[in-house]
Amino acid sequence: MSATSVLARKWRPRNFAQLAGQEHVVQALGNALTQNRLHHAYLFTGTRGVGKTTIARIFAKSLNCESGITATPCGVCSACTEIDSGRFVDLMELDAASNTQVDNMRELLESALYAPTSGRFKVYIIDEVHMLSKSAFNAMLKTLEEPPAHVKFILATTDPQKIPVTVLSRCLQFNLKQLPPALILTHLQYVLGQENIPFENGALTLVARAAQGSMRDALSLLDQAIAYSSGKVDEALVRTMLGAIDQSYLFDLLQILRAGDGAGLLRIADDMALRSIAFEAALQDMATLLHRIALAQTIPQAIADDEPERARLLELAQQFTPEEIQLNYQIVIHGRNEIDLAPDEYAGFTMTLLRMLAFAPQGAGEAAAPRTAAAAPVRVTQATAAVAEAAPVPVPQAVAAPAPQRAEAGADLDWNTLLAQLNLQGMARELAKNSVLSGFSDGRLLLSLAPQHKHLQSNKIALDKLQAALSDYFAKPIKLVVEVGATADVATPALVEQHQKQTRQQQAEDAIRQDVFVREAQAMLGAQVMENSIKPVQQ
Ligand SMILES: Nc1ncnc2c1ncn2[C@@H]1O[C@H](COP(=O)(O)OP(=O)(O)O)[C@@H](O)[C@H]1O
Ligand SMILES: [Mg+2]
Ligand SMILES: [Zn+2]
Repeated sequence: MSATSVLARKWRPRNFAQLAGQEHVVQALGNALTQNRLHHAYLFTGTRGVGKTTIARIFAKSLNCESGITATPCGVCSACTEIDSGRFVDLMELDAASNTQVDNMRELLESALYAPTSGRFKVYIIDEVHMLSKSAFNAMLKTLEEPPAHVKFILATTDPQKIPVTVLSRCLQFNLKQLPPALILTHLQYVLGQENIPFENGALTLVARAAQGSMRDALSLLDQAIAYSSGKVDEALVRTMLGAIDQSYLFDLLQILRAGDGAGLLRIADDMALRSIAFEAALQDMATLLHRIALAQTIPQAIADDEPERARLLELAQQFTPEEIQLNYQIVIHGRNEIDLAPDEYAGFTMTLLRMLAFAPQGAGEAAAPRTAAAAPVRVTQATAAVAEAAPVPVPQAVAAPAPQRAEAGADLDWNTLLAQLNLQGMARELAKNSVLSGFSDGRLLLSLAPQHKHLQSNKIALDKLQAALSDYFAKPIKLVVEVGATADVATPALVEQHQKQTRQQQAEDAIRQDVFVREAQAMLGAQVMENSIKPVQQ
């Protein structure tokens, strides 16, 4: 991927000012250069594509620029231009990943004894230095202990833990950071601006996020996007291009979690397995998404207008409480930590989803996990059992009614029945459930919304979705009008349902209290009924 990236090579920063981020390193190196307090060995660590090699080369120019040791190499002298084009005789670059043999190291170090040919310093850049063999490290150590004054070592690695401490202790170490998406975005905008290639911001936001902190990955994704596009890098195209890492399934998971649909969660997990999505990475992406939702809940303005998936993000931000998002975040982070301990990744991933489901508040989204036992002692058990049977989400009785009646039937159309068939989710569902039908004629459907839910009246997304579902259902355009009802106790589907639930709960509790076995257990074993563990059997 890296070797072929045209943009990454073309736009490799040539001086510190062009570098994105890594200010802490730039500042420290800059000070050392201007004050001429130079170390003889530096170690740059960090994941791939964050600027290790780039900084090493700029530093080599800083040391050898003909204008003098400087934090701002001139870029035009022969030392600078030769370093930029890889022809400078006193700069040796060694890739330890392909030269692990000690012979290479000896050869290299022997040359270190001789004075530089044209520059001020002989600079040795050793990339992926952790790959060196033990004997190669030992050979290097000798030179590091008594380095000739004209020699500078710049070591780079993605894996500093594999470097012997004896070597580490002789290097000045700088940890490069992964680049935040916003910084990558700005850089991509700059590069495309310079290249005169039109783009949509949403497209670049997607690329910046997919790059996971690596500027090189971002630029090579951008290469691909340009190759696919016909003139303009637009969001739809990038979304398709990133297909494999399209994250809409994460939104689906949360939506289904909200609906309490355990079988649905497993269906998506199976689907992910088919598409070979890595489960561990999926958990990490889920944590990122939950973080974005938490941000959206706290400061909605933080979600930019052209943010991809903005609408869905805001919708989820409304559907979950901040506490639920916090809890789910915890569960996901834990799940990711524990995924190695799980029997396999699939099990680890699905258990995490089921844990989220098990801890979802009772009655959330109404279609909460179907209860299977009359008095299961722990909630987790119920949710698990429910999913093991892949039980369908319980649907109100009304669904079993005879052929759907699709003609406008004025106020005697049963809203509850209709609602069950609309298959709504999220806020649209909340809106419908907390309303009663107060009129329907000439394609105009009038709902009266329970006053305690009046905030839903201004929820554009919910209104649009409900209107679209109704239009679909009646196979003609329906104009939805929602007014806020006058009294709080109209029999909305939500209220009816809540009432039924309470009745069933009461019956279940009575049944348990009167159960012979339970009574004996109480009498003989001193057992106690955990009141809040009683759940009605799902009809
Ligand atoms: N901090 C950065 N600012 C701007 N571009 C960067 C930065 N880091 C990496 N790049 C881009 O990625 C490419 C590879 O960077 P490089 O320094 O070789 O990464 P590595 O850390 O793997 O050595 C560069 O050619 C450059 O285009
Ligand atoms: Mg590198
Ligand atoms: Zn110069």
